[in-house]
Amino acid sequence: MDVSIVGSGYVGTTVAACLADLGHRVVNVDVDEGVVSSLNDGVAPIHEPGLSDLVATHAGSRLAATTEYGAVRDTDVTFVCLPTPANDDGSINASVVESGMASLGEAIASTDGRHLVVVKSTVVPGTTEEVLRPAVERASGTVAGEDFDLVVNPEFLREGSAVADFFAPDKLVFGSPTARGHDALAAVYDPLFDRADGEIPVVQTGVREAEMIKYANNAFLATKLSLVNELGNVCKAYGVDAYEVAEAIGLDDRIGERFLRSGVGWGGSCFPKDVSALVAAAREVGYDPQLLEAAVAVNDEQPRRLLDLLAGRVDVPGARIAVLGLAFKPGTDDVRHSRAIPVIESLLDRGADVVAYDPAAAGNMRALFPDVEYAPSAAGALRGADGAVVLTDWEEFATLDGEFDAMASPVVVDGRRIVERREGIEYEGLTW
Ligand code: UDX
Repeated sequence: MDVSIVGSGYVGTTVAACLADLGHRVVNVDVDEGVVSSLNDGVAPIHEPGLSDLVATHAGSRLAATTEYGAVRDTDVTFVCLPTPANDDGSINASVVESGMASLGEAIASTDGRHLVVVKSTVVPGTTEEVLRPAVERASGTVAGEDFDLVVNPEFLREGSAVADFFAPDKLVFGSPTARGHDALAAVYDPLFDRADGEIPVVQTGVREAEMIKYANNAFLATKLSLVNELGNVCKAYGVDAYEVAEAIGLDDRIGERFLRSGVGWGGSCFPKDVSALVAAAREVGYDPQLLEAAVAVNDEQPRRLLDLLAGRVDVPGARIAVLGLAFKPGTDDVRHSRAIPVIESLLDRGADVVAYDPAAAGNMRALFPDVEYAPSAAGALRGADGAVVLTDWEEFATLDGEFDAMASPVVVDGRRIVERREGIEYEGLTW
């Protein structure tokens, strides 16, 4: 098939390269000329394991990029992967997607065939029907369901394993008002069904349901983590190891063993934004989402709890504090909503002298905190420090050992259960 992808960010680029690998001819449309020329040169514009190989293999043959929306006209299907940033009140701002839909509408106005428009952007229930569909219809002078199909297909890729997740998804969600829309989208994924090892569950549902599934999925996972963190806080108060408790409760298959690691909390580009958007959307329709608000509140508290543990052992004003781990999770250089941000802010407020280290994310954190000192290694950060906090579960922190001996006072507060407790250091776990 001829496929166009509007928006070449994290999701759009990954989906484009993976669809090209499945045998489709794919063109990416993006306003950013740098991204477009990078893709055409066969270089992935974002870092994601496996993506560089796919882009290098398919660029120039099945994968191309352009800044011209007109390219959409020569394709059968368009995936819209434009961002939905947060407004100040947490609600989503759909204006980028809306104007993208208008440009798309202009482009498909003169197509002969029946175009399939796929919304991959995360939007709250009702947005596709009430905002995006009218935008395409106005610009194209055509009608959804009659002249073109409009479906919702949310994305569940995780950073750091997005390519692998694409080829082995837990599920695909197809939201469409018509069977025809469901079938058209299934045809795009056909080569994936052929390639996959086992059966891929496909949820064929309505447009609003598909929009909601994405939010419910992320809200559930984020709330699960906040519950695990709250239980961890209670464990800590009783001198109980929350990780032993988690291992046991995870054996109940209604709970499940994954996503039970308690600590300094959740971050990233999805959970914080999606939970806040769902809270705002619920309020908008007159419902007060108390549990989701509590999930956010517990997450906001974890960095403070970690710093209180540190302050119990180190006189923080004027102290040199090593911050190990800046990325929101290991395997990425992404610092968006990383728990390291409130921790560093608070350390600076309390008058500490911060020296930070991360194997991948120091550059991105430097843009936010240019005055913080960045060490080239964990050992460098620990040398001479009066205390250390651990905020990302990078594997290399598990093997730290003699490096702690070079600290001025060997106090380590671990927010991720990654540093090995050992003789000679004052080790404090956040929830154990
Ligand atoms: C998440 C969803 O998993 C994905 O389906 C969605 O499409 C986008 O959001 P991602 O942001 O890549 O993916 O991160 P994920 O691996 O889910 O981790 C999110 C946060 O939870 C990280 O800050 C991580 O450190 C934290 N986490 C995760 C824990 O604190 N404990 C755990 O047990 C698991």
